[in-house]
Amino acid sequence: MLPPVGALPSRVWGTCRGQRWTPETSGHSKRMGHVGRIICISNQKGGVGKTTTAINLAASLASAERRTLLVDMDPQGNAGSGLGLKREMLQGTVYDAILGGRPMRELLHPTELRFLQVVPATPDLTGAEVELVNQERREFRLREALRPLAADYDYILIDCPPSLGLLTLNALVAADSVLIPLQCEYYALEGLSQLTHTVDLVQQGLNPGLKMEGILLTMFDSRANIANQVVEEARGYFKDQVFTAVVPRNVRLAECPSFGKPIILYDIKSKGCESYLALGREIMNREGHHPSKRHVA
Ligand SMILES: Nc1ncnc2c1ncn2[C@@H]1O[C@H](COP(=O)(O)OP(=O)(O)O)[C@@H](O)[C@H]1O
Ligand SMILES: [Mg+2]
Repeated sequence: MLPPVGALPSRVWGTCRGQRWTPETSGHSKRMGHVGRIICISNQKGGVGKTTTAINLAASLASAERRTLLVDMDPQGNAGSGLGLKREMLQGTVYDAILGGRPMRELLHPTELRFLQVVPATPDLTGAEVELVNQERREFRLREALRPLAADYDYILIDCPPSLGLLTLNALVAADSVLIPLQCEYYALEGLSQLTHTVDLVQQGLNPGLKMEGILLTMFDSRANIANQVVEEARGYFKDQVFTAVVPRNVRLAECPSFGKPIILYDIKSKGCESYLALGREIMNREGHHPSKRHVA
């Protein structure tokens, strides 16, 4: 299927015009003291929709002309490939920043969306988990690498691996908030206490400013009793921490990574796309209302 280019304003569609947005060339003036919001997308379970959410939330924000960076902290590297980056195109990965001392700015890769850039990952990041153990300030590597960039973006999203090791810890320490995708399936809530316990520990020590961005219900199938039960339980327990937007199980969302496109460039009319646009709006509506929104003097 051809991407619905016409459905998006041309200014957010970077490559068609042969020009790409970079923080330096963006027409957006740097707001004084502005520091972008860093949201880490985490759940130690695999297959719950972290990467799908990272890619499609990032694309939603970018389509609203928010300057957005997606950082892949998962060695599987699906965030980059889902945005169309091929192995041979890579000019370096997040590994080079957190262990190789390369400035993150050298690792930014453009995407088809003008306001969206990505720092990709490759399987060599698996080694980082072990290599970091003996490093000084090992939990702060990502935070320190992102600091020089924070003023250039409105949103920085971090896609986490399915574990609670040092890579996820780096993401939680770098972030202002954590967004937890919860799959509407059996055992959805199992293991969640481990994650919230890790978040508590990070809040008590390494990153006291860390907030909960929200819980996102994913792969919702209204015909399945279990899905409705998970929604009820999650809303009963986590109350308004659960986003109003719910991501349905939608085959278009599962298809688009193989075309290297976010859903907005693959099928803008799909239910999956609608849900990620709604999530983007919910998050943007909070702009300026976040107690943790950081402003430097
Ligand atoms: N809402 C959805 N509807 C249908 N398939 C989905 C949906 N969200 C994710 N998927 C598919 O489920 C699989 C796991 O999703 P993914 O985002 O990679 O999870 P994670 O990053 O948590 O491991 C992928 O094949 C993805 O395409
Ligand atoms: Mg993933």
